[in-house]
Amino acid sequence: MSVQTLGNRHGSACDLKPTPDGALTHIPGNDGWPIIGDTLPLLADPKGFVERRAQRYGLVYRGRAFGYRGVSLLGPKANELVLLDCQKLFSPSLGWGVFLDRLFPRGLMLLDFDEHRLHRRALSVAFKSGPMQSYLSGLNAGIAKGLREWPRGRAFKFYPAIKQLTLDLAATSFLGEQLGPELEAVKRSFIAMVAASIAVVRVPLPGTQMGRGVGGRALIVEYFNRQIPIRRERGGDDLFSQLCRATWDDGSLLSNADIVDHMSFLMAAAHDTLTSSLTSFVYRLAANSGWQDKVRAELRGLNLAPSEPLPFARLDDLVLTEMAFKEAMRLAPPIPSLPRRAMRDFEFKGFRIPAGIDINVNLLYTHHMLELWPEPECYDPMRFEMEASRARHKFAFVPFGGGEHMCLGLNFAYMQAKCFTWHFLNRFRVSIQPDYRPSWSMWPIPYPRDGLAVTLDRI
Ligand code: HEM
Repeated sequence: MSVQTLGNRHGSACDLKPTPDGALTHIPGNDGWPIIGDTLPLLADPKGFVERRAQRYGLVYRGRAFGYRGVSLLGPKANELVLLDCQKLFSPSLGWGVFLDRLFPRGLMLLDFDEHRLHRRALSVAFKSGPMQSYLSGLNAGIAKGLREWPRGRAFKFYPAIKQLTLDLAATSFLGEQLGPELEAVKRSFIAMVAASIAVVRVPLPGTQMGRGVGGRALIVEYFNRQIPIRRERGGDDLFSQLCRATWDDGSLLSNADIVDHMSFLMAAAHDTLTSSLTSFVYRLAANSGWQDKVRAELRGLNLAPSEPLPFARLDDLVLTEMAFKEAMRLAPPIPSLPRRAMRDFEFKGFRIPAGIDINVNLLYTHHMLELWPEPECYDPMRFEMEASRARHKFAFVPFGGGEHMCLGLNFAYMQAKCFTWHFLNRFRVSIQPDYRPSWSMWPIPYPRDGLAVTLDRI
């Protein structure tokens, strides 16, 4: 099967070779418009565009967007092939590098194969039960404090408010409480980096998003480097201090450069994804008051005072809450598609795809496939009852990816979602105007274009 092998991005220049014209002509599809390819129609309607292509060409098609030719592989079998990657065919580092290399170089998701496994093991200590319990107490305190300032009884834009709250929470659970006067500068730099990672102009010219992002990275690198010896000395339960103490298998500490790269990436990986998923979750609860009541009843069933913190030991009791959150992520997966680059030739559904080609799997498409999800646009958390979930293909619902690169913060994400729901629904009834249908941008990370107008009333 293999006729050509590429090294990974640290080992070979082959990865920079453009795809030769004609290499993909045996695959259905087209190159889109001259010069810009499919970029504009894809940006304008990412879900509709892919659905139309799938209808016309099937579950494997070629296209050209963002300056690259590539092949889209759709459906749960494609997700399984690419994400499980039993044969080490697909490089996430070369796939994601196009978007993230300048801002988050050597973040965990941008490492491949053996090197990735080594780093993932070292980072995993920060997500074990002990540290997680400590993050939860920070989340409980931070969410309760943040929600006290949200207004009752008048229209309120949910999306900017949750974005700010998620950033404030990350600052405490990731960086620790004693940040002092630098906190605002660190937050601003971080926001600039995340915005730049999805900017259309990829060159860091002054005044552009990329320019601000690269400047933000310089500040963050300087800040982390200065803090590492302090954290090693002082200790602390926040994620940064955990990484400063994390070790390789031989007991030696991670280097400063590794800690800086992992911390910047972790903060980015957590921030927009949680913001997006909590926004679509709250929208669904507001639009489906029956489900809002059910979730609130489950919270009440914990028999805790509504003002108490949510205990770590009770997280697994919030079964309906988790189902309701999952269904929101099915409809709007925070990362709608995952890029890779093929390291060797491979075959899928009878098509030979050559080494060096950019490919992507589309979670948004899979999450709406009619054969997997009857009435796919309808919000129905019962799809995630145990029996129904077991009967489905394992790679039909993949908001956190799968295989070796499956989201390392998955448990953190569920924990924060449950903790937020606990405080939010104990405090507020959330509603929207009956005829209100917010318009969502689904790429690169789903968000409501108008900020999502909700009303919060006293419960
Ligand atoms: C609802 C929230 C989240 C969603 C939907 C999400 C989704 C994902 C997905 C799809 C991937 C795999 C990307 C790929 O295979 O190309 C991923 C990777 C990752 N995520 Fe998350 N994520 C979320 C929250 C978080 C949080 C809170 C953290 C950290 C605290 C985090 C840390 C990471 C890391 C470190 C990776 C790279 C894992 C690896 O390459 O081994 N994520 N995430």
